[in-house]
Amino acid sequence: MDQETFSAVDAFIEETLVPPDESLQAALDAAEEAGLPAIQVSPPQGKLLQMLARLQGARTVLEFGTLGGYSTILLARALPAGGRLISLEANADYAAVAAAGIARAGLDDVVELRVGPALEALPALAEEGLGPFDLTFIDADKVNTPNYFAWALDHSRPGSLIVADNVVRGGTLADGSSGEEATLAQRRLHEMLAAEPRVTATTIQTVGGKGYDGFTIALVC
Ligand SMILES: C[S@@+](CC[C@H](N)C(=O)[O-])C[C@H]1O[C@@H](n2cnc3c(N)ncnc32)[C@H](O)[C@@H]1O
Repeated sequence: MDQETFSAVDAFIEETLVPPDESLQAALDAAEEAGLPAIQVSPPQGKLLQMLARLQGARTVLEFGTLGGYSTILLARALPAGGRLISLEANADYAAVAAAGIARAGLDDVVELRVGPALEALPALAEEGLGPFDLTFIDADKVNTPNYFAWALDHSRPGSLIVADNVVRGGTLADGSSGEEATLAQRRLHEMLAAEPRVTATTIQTVGGKGYDGFTIALVC
């Protein structure tokens, strides 16, 4: 198996199971035009995120890492009337592209973007009494994934889901000698999950158009 096969299968899944969507395509096109990196979730993985939010009946979502708003739009669409999604993005230029796409998708009354490093935005969320969040999607700077997870857990309720993307990192997750900071952070995340009585969690390896990686899902007990 090789990357060509993984990409072909992802394309097949997208063609068969992920119908074309004008707003999502417009968000991707705007992101490309503005020179944003194409590091959003793949269409099949985005659909899984959306299904998780729907399965759970999520009304409140917290997202770390907006980029051009692709996963934001998918998640926001899963929410019922009155639902709310807060997305944290460090890069103001990326957030502006996302905001336009979110407005184009008719979701600006559902989504609130907060611009700045996520760790700095968190105290205000707590002060404003936002949360508990039914679903948290962690997809920002990977070195901080354990910090985001710890905060999300403290602002969840029993039954909340916390999803963290890009944890397998080409398989380096299993390499105890890796000195790469983002990998060390994912290993730390797994240690936290193993020791944390408030969650039950698993990690799923993925291949696809974006290579070999994986995501963690933690269910708050
Ligand atoms: C993988 S992308 C997010 C992709 C998006 N969730 C999607 O699937 O459409 C990661 C994003 O996190 C942002 N980011 C990086 N460091 C951050 C930080 N400290 N706080 C908030 N956002 C950050 C990056 O600017 C980038 O837009």
